[in-house]
Formats: sequence, C-alpha cells, structure tokens
Amino acid sequence: MREIQIFDTTLRDGEQSPGVNLNTNEKLEIASQLERLGVHVMEAGFPAASVGDFEAVKAIANAVKNTTVAALSRSVTKDIDRAWEAVKYAVNPRIHVFIATSSIHMQHKLQKSPEQVLEIAKEMVRYTKKYVSDVQWSAEDAGRSDIEYLKRIIEAVINEGATVINVPDTVGYLMPEEYGELIRRLKTEIPNSHKARFSGHCHNDLGLAVANSLAGIRNGLDQVEGTINGIGERAGNAAIEEIAMALHTRKELYQAKTTLDLSQISRTSQLVSRLTGMMVPRNKAVVGANAFAHESGIHQDGMLKDKSTYEIMTPETIGLKKSSLVLGKHSGRHAFRDKLQDLGFVLSEDLINKAFEQFKELADKKKEVTDADISAIVEEEAITS
Ligand code: KIV
Ligand code: ZN
Repeated sequence: MREIQIFDTTLRDGEQSPGVNLNTNEKLEIASQLERLGVHVMEAGFPAASVGDFEAVKAIANAVKNTTVAALSRSVTKDIDRAWEAVKYAVNPRIHVFIATSSIHMQHKLQKSPEQVLEIAKEMVRYTKKYVSDVQWSAEDAGRSDIEYLKRIIEAVINEGATVINVPDTVGYLMPEEYGELIRRLKTEIPNSHKARFSGHCHNDLGLAVANSLAGIRNGLDQVEGTINGIGERAGNAAIEEIAMALHTRKELYQAKTTLDLSQISRTSQLVSRLTGMMVPRNKAVVGANAFAHESGIHQDGMLKDKSTYEIMTPETIGLKKSSLVLGKHSGRHAFRDKLQDLGFVLSEDLINKAFEQFKELADKKKEVTDADISAIVEEEAITS
C-alpha cells in the first residue's frame, strides 16, 4: 500500500475563510491536536501577511515536535526571509513558495510574461534553498494553466532543488477526470518528476475538492492538502477527514493509506469548529451530527439487526461512541422498543403499545422526539393505565 502524506492547511488556507480569525493560543491548540491526529505536515501560516501570523508560526514551530511545520511565502525575497525567521525553530521546517502560472493570473494579477515568471520561480527556489532543504513549490491556479508551460516550469524548479511540487486547483474549476489526468501527465511527461514528491491542493467551488484529490491520488499524488471540516477560501478546501475515510473505507480500490490516527477525527473536527466558529453542517460527510444517525423505521430496523446494512464505516473509527437512532415520525416499533430499553424502562407489552401510539402522535408534530419526550410519554401512560 502506498502511503499518502497529509498536508494540513487549516491554520493557513482554512483561516482564510471569510469571518475566521484565530489568535496564537487558539492556533497552538489546533496545532497540538493536528499533531495528535498525525498529519505529516501542518502549514502554520503566512508569516509575511501580518505580525500576528508571524508570531503564531514561530510559536507553533517551537511547540510542535513530530510534524513538519510549513510556512507559506510569495515568490519575493522579503517574504521568504520572513517565512524562514518564523519557521526556523521547527524540528522539521518547510518553506512553501508559490507563484501563479495561469495566463489569467500572470497577465492580470502579476502583470508578467510567462518567461519572467519562470525566471522568478527558479530564482526564488534557489534563494529558499539557502535556508532550508525542504522546499515546496506551488503553481498557483495550475488547474487553469497551460500544461506545456506547467511542465517546463516544474522541471525547472525541480532542477533548482524543490522537493515537493504542489498542483493547486486554486479556483476549484477542474472535474475529477481532468485533475487526475493532469497529475498523470505531469508525473509521466516531466523528465525529472521522480526527483520530487507531487502534491494536490483542491478547492471546493463546484463541490469536487475531495473527488479531485482522490482522482489525483489514483494518478500518483504522494501528498494531498486540505483542511479540517473543509474550511477555507470561498467554498473551502478538500476536507481531510473525508479523504482519510475514503481511503480507509475503499482501501482495496485505492491501494493507498494515510498515517492518520482516525480515532482523533471527531475530536479535531469539534475543536476546529469551536475555535473558528464555523459550524459543521448536520449532514456533512464523516463529521456532521447526522453522519451516523438513522431516522427511518426501515433503516433503524436494519441497523438493529446488523449495522453494515446502513453504515459503510463505524462511528468508533473516528472516535465517536456509537451511531444514533433518532426517533421521529419515520421510526418504527423496533427502534422505539430499543430506546425504551436504553432509557431503562421495563414495560409490559400493553404499555409499550400504548406509549408507541402516543409517540407516533407526537412525532407527527415534532421534528425529533427527545429522550425527555419519551420519558414523559411513558410516565403519563403508566399513571393513566
Ligand atoms: O489555492 C492555492 O493555490 C493556494 C496556494 C497558495 C497553494 O492556496
Ligand atoms: Zn488554496
């Protein structure tokens, strides 16, 4: 099985979510949980962006011991100097330099020709190598870049010593087949591609960030980047917990695994949600409140007979105690009886039937019938019977 390295950018791209602002202590708390989760690399921030970001990267670099700590930098020497100043305390430091390679970005944003961008990219990788051996280089907007140009610039930065080549679909434009094909071609058509590791960085504008990352893995990516709960610019980044659980659940298909401690997923998700204030939607894959909850009578009956009927992964794998059978108007007698047992009621068959009728009546009026509702129904029935 191939091992896919997980590069977490919750503290950098994730913090770029509109409305999110983490202070250094909050970042340290998340960093230590990411270390527990077992990510291979954490991108701690963008030191040139602000004094606060610089201080946070420095504090994380000092605190983290078992994970590579990366600092992001534009392709300008003063940013790279700043990134190094902040990240140099790490046991395993990495500087991540990026420059845009699509015509749209080169023309409108950088206002530079492709040849000028190529020269800057080479020079900045060379400059970064003075500080650190582990240099990640990103082709911003690779998803909309000309592939022949991408091949040239990637070959050139590998020759300058870039150790990781990141291929971002910055605006979440590509379809999974296209992203997979892009990775396949870059890996097979660039003569020195074997000298670097290839990384995928997908955004979620069309809801395809995880699918694209998985397509990249099938086509040879060695590393994937993402954030916890998929937070990030606009519609966010690829959700790490979804990639990890997809690889875990479909390992025969992917023949690839991560080194994450999956049992830390739920805890990490809750921490990031609490500190960023970004609520996790109830129906979010893997970590949403409904991800292991079942409401319909048919599903609940199946679950009570054998969990594999309606669950492809277990809640215990991600560190949750158990699935929940939510009582509502679609629930049946089997689940109701199970809930009574859970709540410690030992009732006669007659009382169970009466309480079930009361429950059905209430369920028609309420979205979810709570444990307190059930207890009230049973107590009422017991008094009136
Ligand atoms: O989306 C993107 O292109 C980025 C780069 C800075 C890697 O976040
Ligand atoms: Zn990004």
